[in-house]
Amino acid sequence: MNRPLRIALTKGRLEEKTIALFENSGIECESIHDKGRKLVFPIDNGKIEVMLVKSSDVITYVEHGTCDLGIVGKDSIMEHGKHLYEIADLGFGKCRMALAAHSKYNGEVSFFDGYSNKVIATKFEKIARDYFAQKQMDIEIVKIEGSVELAPILGLADGIVDIVETGTTLKENGLEVIETICPISARLIANIASMKLRKSDITDLIKKLKI
Ligand code: PRP
Repeated sequence: MNRPLRIALTKGRLEEKTIALFENSGIECESIHDKGRKLVFPIDNGKIEVMLVKSSDVITYVEHGTCDLGIVGKDSIMEHGKHLYEIADLGFGKCRMALAAHSKYNGEVSFFDGYSNKVIATKFEKIARDYFAQKQMDIEIVKIEGSVELAPILGLADGIVDIVETGTTLKENGLEVIETICPISARLIANIASMKLRKSDITDLIKKLKI
């Protein structure tokens, strides 16, 4: 008999909505409601195993085939994903990737004007590089891991590339969106080999999910 289908699930923001989707689709998720410090959860009466991991690790586990499926934001796929299938947009976790800067850039002075290379703070280095490459703009990237909004406030960067959900963080820190780079939402991803080897299990699960 096959081992249970393994799903790497991004812990935090996407976790609750994924469990709600599973339960609304009739998949039993009892073990996840009493997590403690456990990291592996049998659901669907043992037919599926869910691992709760960080978003970038979801990609790693799926690409290595340790997990057959993953649930992760489009931002992580764009930043870290290489060899995987993106098989469904789950429709939740909606936000956008945006270039933002100090509000002084609104009005007469455009962010894109000027001759000196802009400094961009971000934890999404690849997304930022691709975005500015498309605009044929040379920029310098400063990698920041948390509260990237601080960088332009302190003068470390001219702008940031980051996730914007409600816009509250930007607003409360005197920043605003200069341009939306792309919409983001939670995606179901699959390991390339698993899509062949576990095709019927994966297809059954997708059919069951009320997406
Ligand atoms: C994200 C993002 C922004 C904030 C935007 O951070 O980096 O800081 O959410 O949300 P808003 O538009 O609704 O204000 P998150 O809270 O996920 O924490 P992180 O910095 O640890 O990624």
